Amino acid sequence: MIKKIVPASSLKGEVILPPDKSISQRAAIFSLLYDGISEVGNYSSAQDPQSTLNCVQQLGAVVQERDGKLVIKGTGRKQLKTPEKDLDCGNSGTAMRLLSGVLVGAGISTKLVGDASLSGRTMTRIINPLEQMGAHILARNLAYAPLFINRNEPLKPLKFDLPIPSAQLKSCILLAGLFGEEMTQVIEILPSRDHTERLLNLDQKLVQGRKIISASLSDEIPEQSYTIPGDFSAAAFWLVAGAIQKDAELLISNVGLNPTRNALLDILGEMGADITIENERMEGAEPAGDIIVKGSDLKAVDIDPKMIPNCIDELPILAVAMLFAEGTSTISGAEELRHKETDRIMAISKMLKAVESSFEEKEDGLIIHGDPEFAFQSAEFESFHDHRIAMASAVLSLKGIKESSIKDAESASVSYPTFWKDLDKLRVES
Ligand code: S3P
Repeated sequence: MIKKIVPASSLKGEVILPPDKSISQRAAIFSLLYDGISEVGNYSSAQDPQSTLNCVQQLGAVVQERDGKLVIKGTGRKQLKTPEKDLDCGNSGTAMRLLSGVLVGAGISTKLVGDASLSGRTMTRIINPLEQMGAHILARNLAYAPLFINRNEPLKPLKFDLPIPSAQLKSCILLAGLFGEEMTQVIEILPSRDHTERLLNLDQKLVQGRKIISASLSDEIPEQSYTIPGDFSAAAFWLVAGAIQKDAELLISNVGLNPTRNALLDILGEMGADITIENERMEGAEPAGDIIVKGSDLKAVDIDPKMIPNCIDELPILAVAMLFAEGTSTISGAEELRHKETDRIMAISKMLKAVESSFEEKEDGLIIHGDPEFAFQSAEFESFHDHRIAMASAVLSLKGIKESSIKDAESASVSYPTFWKDLDKLRVES
């Protein structure tokens, strides 16, 4: 679908976010592993969480809807079913990587498949450590889905120094470790999102600035009633849209505020954005609150590479904020962006090029020469079938002089099915 976006003179109103994609997917997987009934309130209807929900049902979870909540009867760790068909992870790297850990742990032989984007993303990072734990994994060209997962030997514990700050990799190994008699440990130098250890209440120790997370069969899967907060990564589009639009005022309700996810708040704060957080509270094990953002003058910022894992999904929309900030901004240490739903450094560059802005692409990031008065007539954006690139391009389109267009805009529903409706609701026409 090609989406046409008419510029807006401002944005006003309240945003109800889609439920968090990462937490939804974990709630589905952890409910499968719990030997009993879990309730999940506000489960996401977006494509990725729905792919995960289908997979956990194929693995034996029984899912019903009651009073707007999912009621999931899990199998526990010992009774998972061998799926009758391939497990289809769709576009979701989280589904493929986390479920691989579960399958290896449980010793279930099956095939994991994904769409064209997911089948182009490297799985070497999970294949190597899972093979050290006793798995045998066949992958296309040794690295790519489809993955044939098998384990014929006993599960071995692993002490694993995370080579990249990836929550998907961390969670994959911990989930496999949850099936082992002996303890598996993951050692993290730079903190990546911590939903897995938080929701599973896993043992965590800080030793000389490194976090050591442990998992084994003796860890109980906690009995839980999950309530999924709004997705901070979805809120990011409105935080930037509100910050760069004159006289904008947006109330973003019920936003997940996990500190390992929301570095964008600090970065936008440093840029001079007018952001207020209210009603801070806990939604189960996860912090949440409401955010008000108002239009303001932004100044350039250099992102500390150490913060990258805590804003990795927000970098495409942050690049849009940088374009309208006074001065030169830099993103570095973000090579990992090249391994997302698409090569996002390339995709951001194409987006910035479409509006003829001044920037340089680096192997591990971007240098963006911003200008609060930056203006462009109109642009034809490619989304590369990547939800976050489609939505970042939409926010940028609002600042054009004339109508712009975005290719394959339906990809937004991978994480945010109501994005286009929300955009129409919040816009104030030029
Ligand atoms: C996710 C972790 C991040 C993120 C992705 C979701 C998760 O990936 O980019 O959208 O749910 O664990 P990495 O941990 O691989 O960087």
